[in-house]
Amino acid sequence: DRIDAAASDLRAADAALALTGAGVSAPSGVPPFRGEDGVWSEYDPDAFDVWRFRREPGAFWADWLDLRADLLDADVEPNPAHDALADLSAAGHLDALVTQNIDGLHQEAGAEETVELHGNARRATCRNCGWTTSADDARERAESGDLPPRCDVCDGALKPDAVLFGEQLPRGALARARDLAADSDAMVVAGSSLTVEPAASLPAEAAETGATLILVNLEETPLDSRADYVFRADVTEVLPALREAVGE
Ligand code: OAD
Ligand code: ZN
Repeated sequence: DRIDAAASDLRAADAALALTGAGVSAPSGVPPFRGEDGVWSEYDPDAFDVWRFRREPGAFWADWLDLRADLLDADVEPNPAHDALADLSAAGHLDALVTQNIDGLHQEAGAEETVELHGNARRATCRNCGWTTSADDARERAESGDLPPRCDVCDGALKPDAVLFGEQLPRGALARARDLAADSDAMVVAGSSLTVEPAASLPAEAAETGATLILVNLEETPLDSRADYVFRADVTEVLPALREAVGE
């Protein structure tokens, strides 16, 4: 069937990667950004841009703590989609997982290499000197003192390590993702609406150099017409089945 065909293309690829979005973490209880139950239907995205952080870091942090509590429950865990991708990477069938997610769940599932295009909400970093601490520590500082939470070294404002609207993507991560996409013979794209650049362009860039595109999403995406395989189904069903069909 189609899973077997996609699996044999993936197995035949010399270089392959996956690109993931919020849909991969949704089954873990992390809400997606868009759609009816999406984060941006409850929160105003303008409250989370980098200009607001610079203008009023204290007010930004007050809102961020609310958003983060909704986004990342302390007990969210990897789901079978994360496990299947981690397994494919450990077995050498995926060279890396490029993700737009900021929850760290691919790493927790044991993926070999994860490229975080939008940073990681489990850390916070000082804007002045680069001192880094865990998001939990930043939250404790925020809750027990004045906002924003501040750096131990230079007293600068800490910023969540998630990429904010208006911010550049981490340069190294983006360069790595582009290199991987350019070199890949196959790409699994899972759980992303493919509406946020530059991540959304990576599959098209890979397709231009002949990569096989395997797309998994509950809904239609702008890339469907260019994909070799479209599975309009849940990532927790398709990815474990794909992993199984690829074999050792
Ligand atoms: P979106 O919320 O835009 O899209 C999630 C996609 O996952 C949708 O297309 C859903 O149809 C699909 N989906 C949801 N649950 C699924 C499931 N169980 N199985 C299969 N598909 C499912 O999330 P992203 O594309 O990741 O930016 O959003 C990209 C960026 O927009 C995010 O990284 C975030 C946001 O602004 C930053 O944090 C910087
Ligand atoms: Zn500092």
